Amino acid sequence: MTAILSSHALAVLSGIPETMLWPLHNRAQEAMRPDRTFDDPVGVRVYRSIDYDYRRNFGAPDGSHAQRAQLFDGAVKDWMIAHPGRPVVELGCGLETQFFRCDDGRVPWIGVDVPPAIAVRTPLLRHPRLRHIADDAFALRWLDTIDPATPILVTAQGLLMYFDEAKAAALVHAVLIRCPKATVLFDVVPRWFSGLTRFGLRKTPHYRSPRMPWGLDGDRIEARVRRWSPVAHRIAAVPYGPTRGGLGAVCRVAARFAGLRRFLGHVVAVQSAGATATTGPEAGSVLRLGPGSARLGPGTRGTHPTCEPSAR
Ligand SMILES: C[S@@+](CC[C@H](N)C(=O)[O-])C[C@H]1O[C@@H](n2cnc3c(N)ncnc32)[C@H](O)[C@@H]1O
Repeated sequence: MTAILSSHALAVLSGIPETMLWPLHNRAQEAMRPDRTFDDPVGVRVYRSIDYDYRRNFGAPDGSHAQRAQLFDGAVKDWMIAHPGRPVVELGCGLETQFFRCDDGRVPWIGVDVPPAIAVRTPLLRHPRLRHIADDAFALRWLDTIDPATPILVTAQGLLMYFDEAKAAALVHAVLIRCPKATVLFDVVPRWFSGLTRFGLRKTPHYRSPRMPWGLDGDRIEARVRRWSPVAHRIAAVPYGPTRGGLGAVCRVAARFAGLRRFLGHVVAVQSAGATATTGPEAGSVLRLGPGSARLGPGTRGTHPTCEPSAR
């Protein structure tokens, strides 16, 4: 396919917005494999239509972002079954094609990202039920467009780790407070990985990851999120990590042992007390993250959640 987005057009991206090409690389490469664990035809189309040297900058794909996306997809689909026709807001949407992978034919989907990222995204990804807001997600102006009485799913995939923890915490708390029927889905990196980025982690000689100022190990997620927001009612987290190559082998072993699992990245779901399903097979228990809600990557199927969904 002819590239429709030139490297010149990508010049608007730098720093955190450029990171949106990194998970796209990992997801699309996984989806193009004959032994793939993940289908993403729209993502592959977008990947191929951008004139960018992914491998030079991000190196060999390791499956990590594909596995993370699968976990998000599973939770999003479960939530949509329980809340048909209710809105999903995707913060820091980048070039993620989750709407197209999860669409149930009814969901109104809102993608929020900074203006340069939306400028790159919108010519490539259009749909009548996919709306974009070009704004800083942390300014919370997007929340003004949401009816606070409605159940809502807010996702922030690959976003919160790039900002101060206080900012991430304020965002999650604001959503739970202002939308009492909200579910928030995000991911965290472990502390050791955050430390590497603070020292200047180079993915390749040509690409240095932006700083991730904070990290959370798996065994600290629940307590920390409760500290972020006293109205966080149910919390669940499942580990994810590379699935391919040498790192994939290490992570598969780590995922089997509680003492090591906490050092993997985690996908986290948080709900406020009012966020219970009223319809569908998930009625009464909307927080399902982990086995059953997502197909995990090679060899990690059946990994158990680090913290089981817990309510108080
Ligand atoms: C690592 S990328 C993740 C993209 C996408 N969620 C994915 O998983 O493919 C981080 C994204 O956050 C976006 N971003 C950075 N700062 C932001 C902000 N203040 N508000 C909203 N989005 C932001 C970037 O433009 C980029 O698209």
